[in-house]
Order: sequence, then C-alpha cells, then structure tokens
Amino acid sequence: MPVTVVVGTQWGDEGKAKIIDLLSREHSHVVRYQGGHNAGHTVVVGDEKYALQLVPSGVLYDHVTPIIGNGVVVDLPTLFREVEALESRGVSCARLRVSSRAHLIFPWHQAHDALTEAGRGDDKIGTTLKGIGPAYADKARRVGIRVGEVHDAVVFADTVRRRAKEENSTLAALGGAPLDVEAIAAQFNDLARRIAPYVADTVNELHDALEDGADILLEGAQATFLDIDHGTYPYVTSSNPVSGGACAGTGLGPRDITRVVGIAKAYTTRVGSGPLPTELVGADGEPDMLGRALIDIGHEYGTVTGRRRRTGWLDLVMLRHAARVNSLTEIALTKLDVLDTFDEVKVCTDYRLDGNILRGYPDRSEVLAAVEPVYATLPGWKSSLRGAGTFSALAPNARALVDLVERNVGVPVTMVGTGPERGDCVVRG
Ligand code: GDP
Ligand code: IMO
Ligand code: MG
Repeated sequence: MPVTVVVGTQWGDEGKAKIIDLLSREHSHVVRYQGGHNAGHTVVVGDEKYALQLVPSGVLYDHVTPIIGNGVVVDLPTLFREVEALESRGVSCARLRVSSRAHLIFPWHQAHDALTEAGRGDDKIGTTLKGIGPAYADKARRVGIRVGEVHDAVVFADTVRRRAKEENSTLAALGGAPLDVEAIAAQFNDLARRIAPYVADTVNELHDALEDGADILLEGAQATFLDIDHGTYPYVTSSNPVSGGACAGTGLGPRDITRVVGIAKAYTTRVGSGPLPTELVGADGEPDMLGRALIDIGHEYGTVTGRRRRTGWLDLVMLRHAARVNSLTEIALTKLDVLDTFDEVKVCTDYRLDGNILRGYPDRSEVLAAVEPVYATLPGWKSSLRGAGTFSALAPNARALVDLVERNVGVPVTMVGTGPERGDCVVRG
C-alpha cells in the first residue's frame, strides 16, 4: 500500500506533470494536495498537449481516480472549463473527486490579489493573479467557504452574499471597484449545483482505498522554494508544496508515505520576483546568450500566465536543501535534452558569501540575493539525448552530469527526462 509524493525541488515548472503521468501507470489514485489554478502541469501525448491547472495529472488514465485534496483552493469556473475541455477531447472526468474540506476561490480573491500586487509598486511578488494568496488568507482567518458547504444551497447562497458584501468593503479600502453581489450569488448558485456530485470526504475515501491495497500518488504543485515556510519568502506562494504538506493536504499520515520523488530540472527557472543566484542575465537584467538559449530551447514560458521564465544554471545547494526538507528518496532530473547543444554546462555546487562557503541554505531572501555561486564546469555532450532507451545509452558526458547530481546531493537519480513527450524519459534500472 505505497504512497508516493511527487514534489518540485526548485521554483516550479520542473516537469512534475510529465513524471506524474509516467508514474500514474502504476497508481490507482492521483491526488493534488495544495495550490490551485496557479499551477500549470503539462503532459504531452503524441500530438496532444494537455495543460492542467486543477485536475490531477493522472486523469489521462482510465484506471486512475483523480482527487482534489483538502489542501487545494478550488476555482470552480476554472475547474469546469478544464473538465469540459478534457471531456471534449475524450478524457473522462467522471471519476473526479473534490474534497469537501477544500476551500473555494471567489472573484473577490482575484480582485484582492490584483489590488495588492498593484499596491506593491516595484516590489511585486509577481503572483499569477489567481487569488491564491487571498483564498488561503481567508482559510487562515477562518472566514473561508469550503466545498462541502455547497450541499445546503440556501445557506451557501446566504454565505456567499454575506462574504461578497464584506469583501466589497475591503476592496473599496484598497481602492478597488465593488463587485456585483447578486451576479456572484447567481453564478455560484449554479456552480454549487454542478460541483455537488463530485464532492466527497476524500480523507476517509483515501484511507479506505489504502486499506484495500491502493497505490496512491500525491501530486505537488509549485515547489520547495515557493513554499510559504521553506521558500524564498516573501517571493513564494501561500501553501506548503513540500512533502510534509502532502499529509496536511490529503489527510494521509507521515507513516503512510513510502516514496518521495523530487523533480529537478537540469537547469533552474523561476517566474515572478525573488532572488535566483545562478541566473543567466547581463548587466541590463535581460537574459544573456545562454539564458536566452535555455528559454528558446526549453520553451520557458509560463503555462498559466505566458510570462517568460527567468533561467539559470542548475543549483545543487537548492537540491541538497530540498532533499533535506522533503526527505527525498529519489530525484527525477528533467529536461536534460535542453542542454544537448551546449559546449559546456555549469552546475552550482556551493554559495560563497564574504569569502566563506555557506553551510546550508540561507534562511533569508536578502542573504540569498547576496551570495556568489561556486560552479563546477562539465563538458557538453553535443548530441541528442532524445530516443535514448536506457540510462547507459545516454551520452557519457550527460551521464557524468547525472552522476555529479547524485553524488553531490546524496540521493539517487532514478529518472532522466530526454524530451517533452510521454515516452521521453529514461528510467534507471
Ligand atoms: P510542471 O509545472 O512541473 O508540471 O511543469 P510544466 O508543465 O509547467 O513545465 C515543464 C515543461 O517542460 C512542459 O512544457 C513539458 O512538456 C516540458 N518537459 C517536461 N519534461 C521534459 C523533458 O525531459 N525535456 C523537455 N525538452 N521538455 C520537458
Ligand atoms: P507549477 O505547479 C512556477 C509563482 C508565481 C509567483 C509566486 C506566487 O506549474 O510548478 P501565486 O499566484 O501562487 O500567489 O504566486 O509563485 N508560482 C509558480 N511558478 N510554477 C508554478 O506552478 C507556480 N505557481 C505559482 O509566479 O512568483
Ligand atoms: Mg508548471
């Protein structure tokens, strides 16, 4: 009865969905445990590309029960758009379950997100503007509305109306326009009716399934360094993507978890603000030639917002910290093929500050912004990794990079990404 967690080890978009898709073959349930539609999880199957925001990536398999766990914040309009788009492409969402304990996102959360970001001027977090932070704030303030409340239509409508009125005062204080309370109440009345058949006590269902021998996969969104506690605060999201968050966000216990797969891109990307020590930028802050190559070859544009991702070399200080914080049992190193044409590849092995090598990962973004990366330089392999069927078929210089990661981080690299498509992955025997 194994439970596997898949967690991002960097700043998101590591290729989690592709690995989840691969692992879904041997799992009966795939459960999102935090975040919301700020996530953009891409699975490529032949000519078909699926960009998922809320529906768990395992949905593409008929044998998988996709579950939106209690730790997720759910935007119902997005969820139904996604479900309709999937079903129109022949992917059934009939098995989807949504936790009654999950919190709902409302239009005032998005308005609040936009106004707060605008109010920060040059000091923006660079959020996805999906209302994620305000929705989690309401959950923490104990004024959130949970999915399970849709079962009583009258009480639900009253609560939505009351909260919408209260939030209009908050929005006014932030300089925003009031929202149309009755229009929101009507919209959510309809959405509540539509979501009701999917709502379940997923905590009990997951435990029952475990007892019946299920293999459960917990799908992380965002990543370790976007975690509200362990990330580069305040340039983080508002949930706990780390593997510990998978327990709180699903109701499974720490001893249920048997495997933690950390997803690491073979270089680093970040969308939004905050320090990125290995960033490949010129003095003008724009990507330099190599940074540009990573953007172009790796198609580093956000799935959700279309924003260009910032790029830099692989950072093993981050991976060592991610290994500690998440109890990683293994690493999947993705997008190694993006480096195919590089003459040489750099990997940051340490941070130097004021002439000293730092022990451990800095606990403050100000310190992280001041560190100087120490690099190991490896020769490139100058050949295509695509189509390699086995680890030993990879170019020797590519294997040397994988070995360096494994030795330096102290965690086995069990999978290597060699292209965007479903089959483009070498699983190490
Ligand atoms: P996630 O948020 O971690 O699931 O990652 P995203 O889907 O946002 O971004 C990863 C992007 O890289 C997607 O466009 C994937 O199709 C693509 N991708 C995933 N793994 C690989 C790989 O090994 N090689 C290449 N070239 N692309 C990959
Ligand atoms: P996946 O699951 C990359 C970033 C935003 C911003 C910060 C806070 O696809 O890896 P938020 O809207 O969450 O309040 O924004 O977090 N961010 C992501 N970056 N991948 C994601 O998800 C992200 N989700 C949020 O860009 O910097
Ligand atoms: Mg993504």
